[in-house]
Amino acid sequence: MEAPQHNLAMDLVRVTEAAALASARWLGKGAKNEGDKAAVDAMRLSFNSLDIDGRIVIGEGEKDAAPMLYNSERVGTGRGVAVDVAVDPVEGTNLLAYGRPNAIAVVGVTPAGAMFNPGPSYYMKKLVVPAPARSVVDITAPVAHNLKATAKALGKQVEDLMVFVLDKPRHAGLIAEIRKAGARIQLHTDGDVAGALMAVDPASSVDMMLGTGGTPEGVLAACAIKALGGEILAQFDPQSDTERHRILDFGLNLKDVLTCDTLIRDENVFFAATGISGGTFLGGVTYTGTGATTHSLVLRGKTGTIRRITSTHQWERLMRFSSIKY
Ligand code: FBP
Repeated sequence: MEAPQHNLAMDLVRVTEAAALASARWLGKGAKNEGDKAAVDAMRLSFNSLDIDGRIVIGEGEKDAAPMLYNSERVGTGRGVAVDVAVDPVEGTNLLAYGRPNAIAVVGVTPAGAMFNPGPSYYMKKLVVPAPARSVVDITAPVAHNLKATAKALGKQVEDLMVFVLDKPRHAGLIAEIRKAGARIQLHTDGDVAGALMAVDPASSVDMMLGTGGTPEGVLAACAIKALGGEILAQFDPQSDTERHRILDFGLNLKDVLTCDTLIRDENVFFAATGISGGTFLGGVTYTGTGATTHSLVLRGKTGTIRRITSTHQWERLMRFSSIKY
């Protein structure tokens, strides 16, 4: 038996709250880069107060294009435990820019070496299902098979299912197949991390997520799924010849099926997400005049503890010393 250990996710929620508070000022202003920069600045400052020796595996991109929170950047004071870090200061930059639901600030952390490094892969095909369906799905099988198997595992009819799909031209065939099989669809312009979380959350109306989205977003979603239960199956799905060649040069195999356990190789995973624009899954930032309220999801894989935290932030006290201007 062990004495209770430090739950890093309780620190991470302050990092995602900072990113959400800073970027929510940009909601609906049509300025995705400015909104993203506000979140990156706040997240980085907040991260560097943590006693961890962190290395960013999933970041804002290569150093040349991303001046901060870039892949391989070290974060934290360097004094604590060695960890791999996945960040998305604003997951759904267009959702933020146009005031659409489900923009969230997200962070995942694992012990060093336990997080999958996708290298130059930008896009992957994903299938996400809740725990009861985790062993009955197969990403290489036809869509109709997976819908049928998932419905059976959930004790539902295919017609009862709600499938989250990104509304992209590349999904025309997928959408047609889902419709033909009889399941229902929620089409979202962006935000497949929120989609994956909704798919594994029994309280959500979404039963499943299908389709191709960002590879970094797939690894981030896997951090949460590892803690919440459920499954994510994925295959690299390059959207250009350049991406395809770079993936092959990096030594990845296009036929490989990645699972939650191959994306995140340790149960000791920590995850936090804070709503920016608000949606059915996580409430957004509301400004009260004297402060703000945030809503977050906080997960620890080892114990499986799920926390939903509502925080009240008070400007009068916070702004006396905060170097981040909210
Ligand atoms: P950003 O926050 O980087 O804009 O990503 C939003 C997103 O919708 C992700 O949720 C998704 O995985 C990816 O973009 C899909 O990429 P694309 O819009 O190029 O199809």
